[in-house]
Amino acid sequence: MIDIHSHILPFIDDGAADWESALAMAQDAHMDGISTVVATPHHANGVYMNPAPGIRQAVEELNDRLRQAGNPLLVLPGQEIRVYGDLLNDLEQGHLLTLAGSRYILLEMPSSRVPRSMESTCHELLIQGFVPVIAHPERNAEVAADPSQLTRLIELGALGQLTAQSVAGALGNKLQKLSLELCRRNAVHVIASDAHDNQRRPFGLSEAYAVLTKELGQPTSDFFRQNSQKIIHNEEIIRADSTQSQTKLHRLFGFFSRKG
Ligand SMILES: [Fe+2]
Repeated sequence: MIDIHSHILPFIDDGAADWESALAMAQDAHMDGISTVVATPHHANGVYMNPAPGIRQAVEELNDRLRQAGNPLLVLPGQEIRVYGDLLNDLEQGHLLTLAGSRYILLEMPSSRVPRSMESTCHELLIQGFVPVIAHPERNAEVAADPSQLTRLIELGALGQLTAQSVAGALGNKLQKLSLELCRRNAVHVIASDAHDNQRRPFGLSEAYAVLTKELGQPTSDFFRQNSQKIIHNEEIIRADSTQSQTKLHRLFGFFSRKG
């Protein structure tokens, strides 16, 4: 399995605290059946600033340490980028990292809302040949209340990334239900761990895929697995039309939305 979102690099955000923790996380990832992990430290989220050079260097060092420890896990560079004013300019200047050097770029929204600039940022990135991957939309309050806030961005050409723990049910029944419904409605395309440690926020990809297979069938589970692989190989992912599912989504979640 491939994991496109993790906080395995030590010392630079709220993920691994030190090299020992990073290596312990890597061991967990390997035991879970993960072969490749994209390290995506927080960037520009108001607390952490992690421009590209420091991430590249830490990835190189972690891979060296993994080889020394005999762990075959491969770590690739990435970034979880909060949507901010200078994003496009900083991307042009080379301060930002896409996922494993691909056209796919991992974007984080504040958990409470969908920024007004989200649509224009996604649009501009797509025009420039990048594909925005929206991190854990199921954990965004506005998306949870009104999933059309997400599907609008998906229709523009963005992708959605669910958290493995949300799918597995570790974050509660409500989040699991919403996650599975977003899968059914083709509003999300990839599952990733967003692992921060090996206790509270672990990798747990195999568990998420097992739930997905049980609830939605093997082809859906395979679709998600293949998309992670395609992202790191910079291949185009298969999309399904999310518009046909709008009516049921509104019916399901309309109760929570202002329009409802
Ligand atoms: Fe994250």
